[in-house]
Amino acid sequence: MSSVPQPQPRTQPQPWDVHRLPRAEGRSFLVTGGNAGIGYFVAEQLAGTGATVVLGSRDATKAEAALASIRSHVPGARVRHLRLDLADLASLKTSVDALGLDRLDAVVHNAGVALDDPPRRETGDGHELMFATNHLGHFVLTGRLAPLLLATPGSRIVTTGSFAAKTERLDLDDLQSTHDYRPKRTYGRSKLAQMLFGFELDRRLRAAGSTTRSVVVHPGGALDSLTPSRPPVSERTTGERLRGLPLGLLVQGKEAGAWPAVRAVLDPDVRGGQMWGPRVFGLRGRPRAEPLWDHLADTATAARLWAACHDLTGVDPASEA
Ligand SMILES: NC(=O)c1ccc[n+]([C@@H]2O[C@H](COP(=O)([O-])OP(=O)(O)OC[C@H]3O[C@@H](n4cnc5c(N)ncnc54)[C@H](OP(=O)(O)O)[C@@H]3O)[C@@H](O)[C@H]2O)c1
Repeated sequence: MSSVPQPQPRTQPQPWDVHRLPRAEGRSFLVTGGNAGIGYFVAEQLAGTGATVVLGSRDATKAEAALASIRSHVPGARVRHLRLDLADLASLKTSVDALGLDRLDAVVHNAGVALDDPPRRETGDGHELMFATNHLGHFVLTGRLAPLLLATPGSRIVTTGSFAAKTERLDLDDLQSTHDYRPKRTYGRSKLAQMLFGFELDRRLRAAGSTTRSVVVHPGGALDSLTPSRPPVSERTTGERLRGLPLGLLVQGKEAGAWPAVRAVLDPDVRGGQMWGPRVFGLRGRPRAEPLWDHLADTATAARLWAACHDLTGVDPASEA
């Protein structure tokens, strides 16, 4: 008797489960600032997929502590350290040369510095510290990684923005806050620069016919006091934990702050040019795609920013392959 093919039930897309990530053996990911904070948890969660995860960190001792902690939480984790200092632009080529990978499926541009008080500080290259670390460093790193990323089909560049960028606007005539330095504003503008870069990068990748995607994420509000302990990477006293509890209604810990970036790296449904952040008022909760804030769609400003950063660094990330 011949069997008659039966109609198959339509497979429903499974909701994304931050605690049950798809496997990613054979893939390689680089996380800047993977030694601490949100970046540590991005690295730990990605390591749990079976992928190789490289922690880009300027401090070898902190990186070793982070590697040990990941290995203790993820048996068999394939993790290692790459020396990376985003504030030293010339060093980034040497760092990428030392990466020793033949494919790179994603880089998470996570590292960041936020200063609270004046005075205005500069890197050894003479750039304002927050703009240089948060934006210029990742701009140049993208260029240095471009040959590897573009040679890996479907690779992703995930850039970490911030709510702090929502109310800021760039001053293209004073990108480095030379004339009127206010730390919070300079930080917010550096995050806005990163976000505009992430969207502009995706437009340039599409125009070039590349399969590499650029995605922007933000972690909402992610506090150390709400973060699970990972001694010695992050530790909380009982008092800190108790004092932090009421804040958990509004914001979250850094392990949850990692979720949008992890999803942007792994979820096949994430598309280039999207922004992902936490579900509850953009401040806490599971990751979801968010509508872009109006000023993030300002393509003229993004193109002028790109040209200015090319002039400042001598690197054009879209032409380095
Ligand atoms: N936490 C939040 O609520 C929040 C909200 C919005 C956006 N963000 C963004 O999320 C990202 C992570 O924030 P976080 O709260 O996890 O910060 P964090 O705990 O202060 O960690 C910052 C990380 O960046 C690294 N870093 C700083 N300067 C560097 C440099 N020159 N080269 C390489 N690495 C450098 C740090 O390394 P060292 O240990 O060596 O200093 C550390 O690993 C940042 O981009 C931040 O702007 C955070």
